[in-house]
Amino acid sequence: MNLILIGAPGSGKGTQSRLLIDKYNFVQLSTGDVLRAAISAKSDVGMTAKCYMDQGKLVPDDVMIALVEDYMSKQSGKSVIFDGFPRTVAQAESLDSMLKKNAARIDHIVYFKINPQILVKRLTGRRTCSQCGEIYHVETKPSSKGHLCEKCGGSLTQRADDKEEVIGERLAQFEKNTGPTIEFYRGQKRLVEVDSMQEPEVVFKQIEKVLDLAN
Ligand code: AP5
Repeated sequence: MNLILIGAPGSGKGTQSRLLIDKYNFVQLSTGDVLRAAISAKSDVGMTAKCYMDQGKLVPDDVMIALVEDYMSKQSGKSVIFDGFPRTVAQAESLDSMLKKNAARIDHIVYFKINPQILVKRLTGRRTCSQCGEIYHVETKPSSKGHLCEKCGGSLTQRADDKEEVIGERLAQFEKNTGPTIEFYRGQKRLVEVDSMQEPEVVFKQIEKVLDLAN
């Protein structure tokens, strides 16, 4: 089963991906995580991506599509969670044709519906483990170990693009590019909405229901 999690920055896609992986047999393709790893490795893709990400802009479609094509060519047939891809209609169309070539398909497209006003608080308070990627929030989900990760002891860091001045542009990009992508899927009657303003466990239950995994 392959699924797309689509929603605004901070709507909870990463949090729910981790819950799904912990309980079920999924692998996650977070294009944001892949790009951040490429930046750390100072690869060509990373250096290109950094210029866009630091400003809160989208990385060009050709770079993103090549990156996902490469990932899919190495896939072992496991169920994939697409987290952060596609974000434009061009990316959505490319993903459909990529999967078609491999006789695969997207089974569920889950849209994380949220009031934009709460996103800034979620994003500015987010902290992420530099080792295992566990996601925290200084107010709503603090680590019991202070600046260290509860799971692996890694140090918690703030993402470079989680600063208020960059967040505004990320939200604008979401409206401009991902809004039409959501409408593209809605028009094909492939989109299912969840209320991502609920507690993470409640959002998770909604997703399990959509995926028909609830007991
Ligand atoms: P990316 O890393 O994908 O970031 P994003 O889409 O902006 O999403 P986030 O990771 O910020 O948020 P999330 O929805 O995962 O929320 P989370 O669960 O962490 O992309 C970064 C950049 O890379 C882009 O700006 C772009 O430049 C580039 N890029 C990536 N993919 C691209 C593509 N396809 N095309 C072009 N460019 C691309 O939660 C956030 C916080 O809220 C946490 O603190 C969490 O604890 C808290 N929280 C989560 N759920 C809840 C809840 N239910 N209730 C209360 N708090 C909650």
